[in-house]
Amino acid sequence: MPIYRSALLRFDASTGKAIYEEDALLATQADPTGVQRVVAAGSWSALSAQYAGQGEPITHLPGRIIAPGFVDLHIHYPQTDVIGSPADGLLPWLENYTFPHESRFSDPAYAGDVAKFFVDELLRNGVTTAVTFCTSHPGSVDALMTEAQARRMRIIAGKVLQDRHSPDGVRDETEQSLIDTETLINRWHGKDRLGYAITPRFAPTSTDAQLRGAGELAAKYRDVWIQSHVAENLDEIRWVRELFPAARSYLAVYDDFGLMRERAIYAHCIHFDDHDRALMRDRGTAAAVSPTSNLFLSSGYFDFLKADEAGFQYGLASDVGGGTSFSPFHTMLAAYYVGREGHAKQGQSLKPQALWWQHTAGAAKAAGLDGVVGNLQPGCEADFVVLNPQATPLIARRTSQARNLDELLFAMIVLGDDRLIERTVIA
Ligand code: GUN
Ligand code: ZN
Repeated sequence: MPIYRSALLRFDASTGKAIYEEDALLATQADPTGVQRVVAAGSWSALSAQYAGQGEPITHLPGRIIAPGFVDLHIHYPQTDVIGSPADGLLPWLENYTFPHESRFSDPAYAGDVAKFFVDELLRNGVTTAVTFCTSHPGSVDALMTEAQARRMRIIAGKVLQDRHSPDGVRDETEQSLIDTETLINRWHGKDRLGYAITPRFAPTSTDAQLRGAGELAAKYRDVWIQSHVAENLDEIRWVRELFPAARSYLAVYDDFGLMRERAIYAHCIHFDDHDRALMRDRGTAAAVSPTSNLFLSSGYFDFLKADEAGFQYGLASDVGGGTSFSPFHTMLAAYYVGREGHAKQGQSLKPQALWWQHTAGAAKAAGLDGVVGNLQPGCEADFVVLNPQATPLIARRTSQARNLDELLFAMIVLGDDRLIERTVIA
């Protein structure tokens, strides 16, 4: 039974409030499938007699903080090399950079190379669970799942469905795309810690037949995830209105095809009205809030306040390569800036504990993985990071002056990056 002694950050499972102990014990134990799970977490003085008294080796990490591994609710592994491609907005960015680049994933060797780099980069940044797009090529899914499985990571991924308004090289064929999706579900979903997501790219690049087929698969495989994009950009929304004139809204297109339910995750959700927000809540569908992407592509600002008022679930996401960083610290800081836009009228800001929760336990909850990942309470899978608040002279100086947990977390959010992640441990 591995035992760790250090500072420990976790979240109250019911309230989401952060719990922080300066001197804590974390004990984990392998379950019958070989996954390490938390068996005890709490203050050293309360738990050490029971868990550390029998001569077990103890990993002592003075000056370090153990915290839940980060959960990235929306990322594109094939866009690792698209980061930083300038464009006037979403649609020219897709046409000029993203689609041409994604066509390269028809080559399984290339997909394998990028998948390996991508998984390394997630772990270097402390991201232990990611919900990720692949490309339309089925081999792109095999490449990523193979890499993730080798590291025993919890990755949720799927083959992109896009059978129209897409160039040669990335466009798929309706019937075959649905056959491929079902084959990949059977090959990968539930294998070790892997999950499959049915992945229509976005409404404009799928025919009615493809969306209908995706909805049928979503009904047949209830515990498989669904991921797509919605209401990101005003030109995109105009286009959807032309293509689906009968739908009440862009979001309603997905609902009309049976693509809104629990375990469905929609990136962006910026340009919503109150009906859309109520629909998200009623269907148990989650938003993947992607602030670095929304700032980079000038898409708009997610409205945290209205999301909370409506009561739908959301979590944070990098959306690499529209997003500009793999680092959860960069994403949390961008969410803070975006949140101030939404909250400006009330003169409020997102709180450090809330930002951190939205990228760990809150994101896990939104993805239907509450109590599984994103937290370090007993029963959770033991995916965690070891943070080093002495990682740089400035972070050391600033964090040493923090007077309470909020100040400590906020200093790390504002100043942190991959240097703060000393180690990432996969359950
Ligand atoms: N909408 C459709 N495809 C994409 C994509 O790859 N990235 C983003 N940000 N939005 C999209
Ligand atoms: Zn995206």
